[in-house]
Amino acid sequence: MTLKDKHIILGITGSIAAYKAAYIIRGLVKKGAEVQVVITPAGKEFITPLTLSTLSSHPVISEFFSNRDGTWNSHVDLGLWADAMLIAPATASTIGKMANGIADNMLITTYLSCKAPVFVAPAMDLDMFAHPSTQQNLEHLRSFGNRIIEPTEGELASHLVGKGRMEEPDKIIEVLEDFFAARKDLEKKKILITAGPTYEKIDPVRFIGNYSSGKMGFALAEVCAERGAEVTLVAGPVSLKTHHPAIKRIDVESAGEMYQVAMEAFPGSDAAILCAAVADYRPENASEQKIKRETKGDMTLHLVPNPDIAASLGAIKREGQVMVGFALETNNEATHAEGKLKRKNLDFIVLNSLRDQGAGFRCDTNKITIIDDAGGVTSYPLKSKREVASDIVNKLVTLLR
Ligand code: C5P
Repeated sequence: MTLKDKHIILGITGSIAAYKAAYIIRGLVKKGAEVQVVITPAGKEFITPLTLSTLSSHPVISEFFSNRDGTWNSHVDLGLWADAMLIAPATASTIGKMANGIADNMLITTYLSCKAPVFVAPAMDLDMFAHPSTQQNLEHLRSFGNRIIEPTEGELASHLVGKGRMEEPDKIIEVLEDFFAARKDLEKKKILITAGPTYEKIDPVRFIGNYSSGKMGFALAEVCAERGAEVTLVAGPVSLKTHHPAIKRIDVESAGEMYQVAMEAFPGSDAAILCAAVADYRPENASEQKIKRETKGDMTLHLVPNPDIAASLGAIKREGQVMVGFALETNNEATHAEGKLKRKNLDFIVLNSLRDQGAGFRCDTNKITIIDDAGGVTSYPLKSKREVASDIVNKLVTLLR
């Protein structure tokens, strides 16, 4: 009963999906939440305030003051009352106003006054949703820490088929339940995470890199931050974005740069998760000019070893600090992983094998085995990288206590 006695503001805007708001209210109230509806003028064209006030047992708020008796509706009080604000359905127009602070209705002023977490469930036609303007506005909302409940694909009111259907009411309620159930078991902990590949410069246009996308490390950063940690994310060259305000991101390019930042951040950290696919070697001398094709014969690049970041941190690890490493292997997986666990002074190592379908680089899923320094081995089924991140963090929390 994670929603029991929770105060939820439900913002409803002018979309055909507004009829589903009735089911959202019913579901929330059934779970013990108190719901206060704020509706935009356009929203009222799609669903009547009478339906909404009956289901929520509260008068619906739409105007800044009541036309009948002049009572002032305080968006500030409402914003402070809320444990969460949910805007469902959220039209392109409302999303744009939220992103830019255009406070011309009660819903937006309430949003701007709201200190509680905000959830946004967009609903619109596929082309409107895909438009760079909408996507940029959603990106703004994410950067404010708002959580976007992605629309699903399917038949839309226009009879076109695509992404833009508001997520189903029971799924939206589940997102809220999960949020309130979330553990804050990393509060006051500082966690250093390395993620992504490194690029080792050959000349001004070429580098030695690898296929790492950074998805696993970024998922770990989000999960740690959601569970209360202050995260320093040292990211190699990736195209991913970070969303949580508790993540301090430092972008680097080479293993040498990553090493410097990690060595500086580690002494002040409670834990380090070394998820980056760091190049083991770099060209001894990067050429200042673009290297030209040889007229004949082979070409040789002389490579020198990079610092092993994990092993260097392992060498200065203090009592109480926890270190987690990764091992991506192609053969003799467990033996290689155990060797790295010891050599780098890790507390546990997350093993994934390129032999497993859906594990490793670029994909959104992973299949891991955790091996700890006491010899404990736990294998997990194929899961999304986010779920895998939760499993890893659960293990980390037991060691940080
Ligand atoms: O490359 P290797 O398989 O040895 O990587 C195992 C672990 O060591 C990973 O956690 C990786 O992030 C880390 N590592 C590192 N610095 C390196 C090489 C690897 O931190 N130069």
